[in-house]
Amino acid sequence: MDLRKRSARIVLLFFLLFCKAQATVHYYDFVLKEKNFTKLCSTKSILTVNGSFPGPTISARKGDIIYVTVHNDGTYGVTVHWHGVRQPNDPWSDGPENITQCPIPPGSSFTQRVNLVSEEGTLWWHAHSDWTRATVHGAIVIHPPRGASYPFPEPHGQETLIIGEWYKGDVMKIIKDALASGGNPNASDAYTINGQPGDLYACSNGTTHRFSVVPGKTYLIRIINAAMNENHYFGITNHTLTLVGTDAAYIKPFTTPYLLISPGQTMDVLLKANQKPGLYYIAASPFHDGASPYDNTKATAILQYRGSFNTSHHRHRHRHQHPPLVFPDFPDHNDSSAAFNFTKRLRGLGTKSHPINVPKKVNKRIYMTVAVNLLTCNASTCDRTTKLAASLNNVSFQIPSIDILEAYYWNKTGVFTKDFPKEPPSYINFTDPSNNVFTTTGTRVIMLNYNESVEIVWQGTNNTLNTAENHPMHLHGFSFYVVGQGLGIFKNKTHPKSYNLHDPPEVNTVNLPLNGWLAMRFVANNPGVWFMHCHFERHSSWGMDTVLIVKDGKTKETSMLPPPKDMPPCSK
Ligand code: C2O
Ligand code: CU
Repeated sequence: MDLRKRSARIVLLFFLLFCKAQATVHYYDFVLKEKNFTKLCSTKSILTVNGSFPGPTISARKGDIIYVTVHNDGTYGVTVHWHGVRQPNDPWSDGPENITQCPIPPGSSFTQRVNLVSEEGTLWWHAHSDWTRATVHGAIVIHPPRGASYPFPEPHGQETLIIGEWYKGDVMKIIKDALASGGNPNASDAYTINGQPGDLYACSNGTTHRFSVVPGKTYLIRIINAAMNENHYFGITNHTLTLVGTDAAYIKPFTTPYLLISPGQTMDVLLKANQKPGLYYIAASPFHDGASPYDNTKATAILQYRGSFNTSHHRHRHRHQHPPLVFPDFPDHNDSSAAFNFTKRLRGLGTKSHPINVPKKVNKRIYMTVAVNLLTCNASTCDRTTKLAASLNNVSFQIPSIDILEAYYWNKTGVFTKDFPKEPPSYINFTDPSNNVFTTTGTRVIMLNYNESVEIVWQGTNNTLNTAENHPMHLHGFSFYVVGQGLGIFKNKTHPKSYNLHDPPEVNTVNLPLNGWLAMRFVANNPGVWFMHCHFERHSSWGMDTVLIVKDGKTKETSMLPPPKDMPPCSK
């Protein structure tokens, strides 16, 4: 290599290093405010960010830092969470109400820092106060860092599709009434794709979301399940999807006619527009394998090939009218094995630039049962003698009235206890429908030492309610590796032998199969207070939650940052 070429290379190398070191800083203003929307033939006022539903997309590159100033122009306190963002050493900006902060009071604001150090792909943000996330959510699109590229050919175009759940009533009232009565919350009235139920619903003609593509080109579609209480099958009629990433981490690509996507999850797929030019349904349809009531409707958007093509839609005068389209084929709504088999196909990408760092050894294992239960209640708190509840290791989590993070940081006692059990109270036949249905309550958290290698095995359960179902389990502050999963009861002698420690997928939300188990691992190297819960909102509201506190390490770099100056006050 001659000298000139070599020095040019060195200059280029420095340029790249310089660019890499320069995190771009972005600023966003999120104004929480009520706005009227008309769907399903009626108009209602919903809480939005900046008046849009879904809310604004945050778009950045891996390594960037985003400051979001959240102004609350609504009528009650709210918080906002950056789902799947690790937020290294900085639980202060994480957002879950009364876990890491008190709500932002009406008329004030809070600036949160979203620090995208390790994620690449798609995440999302959502309100994290009661059921406000139904309408307060949006995408976080994280492109590769400057100078880097996707681990697949650059797509011709990109699209983000958010699956939502629409309630005709006021969501805050729906959960309040359900908790007061002790029964199931009302099911939703429609699902939406990018805010639109699609033309299978009354009064939705003309509003269906459309995504137009050039024949022959490949697109990257980012799908977010922001629904409150339901998993979804997702697919596009006549097209196969190539799944390339989930929860802002790349996976080994595989093709599939449909996705199974749970609330909280994101999936990035490549779509080749390789079918006969025309219109095709993009569709979401619920997967629900439990016995509780649910919204059994379907949402649609339209994939529309550009250019002139000869289908009967040209006979329709109005752009939004089209001939009847065919709905994609999905497994049955309660086909647990279809869901299980789909989840099992995920494998981490594991290349030099996207390595897999799964802990090979663990120093702390927690075996955790996941259950829907009953609690007794009296006439002063609910209309019946028992109320629905949910638990982890037979503890139904009680959210305190001030946040756990500040209580921990300032050594305030009486807010939580550090004694979340590392195993269930007894080793019964967990999936037996004659198991005791009642649970205990508490605000018991898991304490972890800095840098501990942790394994959590979630165990699905059944009891006399006989409402066993899958659960999308989610952890804040970390992505974790899914090392094993199976049906039935976890056996700690044999099942770990079959763990995938070679290329497990790295996720922030995972579907625990119905009456099955799932093992995950992570290193507790992010000091802070991190919420863990089922991402079905009804289960989380009933107490299917706990908190992980990761203690500081010995250095400043391994310790929690101090609180920001504008932390919302805790009034109680
Ligand atoms: Cu999507 Cu507690 O979060
Ligand atoms: Cu659940």
